[in-house]
Amino acid sequence: MPKITIQDFLKKKTEKKKITMLTAYDYPFAQIVDEAGLDAILVGDSLGMVVQGLENTLPVTMDEMIYHTKMVSRAVKNAMVIGDMPFMSYQASIEDAVRNAGRFLKEAGASAVKIEGGAEVAGHIRAMTKSDIPIMAHIGLTPQSIHRMGGYKVQGKTEEAQKRLIEEAHIAEDAGAFSLLLEAIPMELAKKITEELSIPTIGIGAGQSCDGQVLVLHDVLGLFERFVPKFVKRYADLKAEALKAIKSYKEEIEKGSFPSEEQSFK
Ligand code: KIV
Repeated sequence: MPKITIQDFLKKKTEKKKITMLTAYDYPFAQIVDEAGLDAILVGDSLGMVVQGLENTLPVTMDEMIYHTKMVSRAVKNAMVIGDMPFMSYQASIEDAVRNAGRFLKEAGASAVKIEGGAEVAGHIRAMTKSDIPIMAHIGLTPQSIHRMGGYKVQGKTEEAQKRLIEEAHIAEDAGAFSLLLEAIPMELAKKITEELSIPTIGIGAGQSCDGQVLVLHDVLGLFERFVPKFVKRYADLKAEALKAIKSYKEEIEKGSFPSEEQSFK
């Protein structure tokens, strides 16, 4: 099967087929997500929280994103790999944005890049798209704006905020984004945006009308416990499984049943 392209994303929207997406940050998990047949893997800056143990995503650097994206790209055969622009890799200038986005494609094997923001990064999206870097824009709850937003809060609750988000969605599309991620907004608003845009929307906490869905892998697998947002569905409890396995290993060493002859050389 050939790699998923941005044209496949658009085709899925036209054919009303859902786009499936998860995050991944390393080789073994990227291999599993790809083998499961998902359309896209986002190497999200959420890795700061679920892999690095940070309080929020702000300290994540470009070099760290490149390091993780390389591991993911190495593992993936079919899914589209999307690199996530970390905080301060694009805010200061359009030139920063183009150079850093380019690194994901040039050094790390990604085929697209995600950037938080709509209207305020329209010029960035336009310049990156002009440089042949496919861009997924991200509006609604944008975790890099945690200090301005006063926490991880649902966005678009007032009529005025909804109007603004609809405008932002159109601005991102007009600037050249090939898709739009909608995070933590009311489902009716996500439905309206999805119907109005010709590019696909990918929802996380935005209801079932979006053209596709994404979640953080560690939430889905039960590997992140610090907090579980309402929009997360846990499909496995890998922490419990890993704990069980590691405790058995410890016990067997302590009682002398590991290694046995089977794991030894004659
Ligand atoms: O960084 C990330 O993983 C994200 C998702 C929450 C969509 O942006």
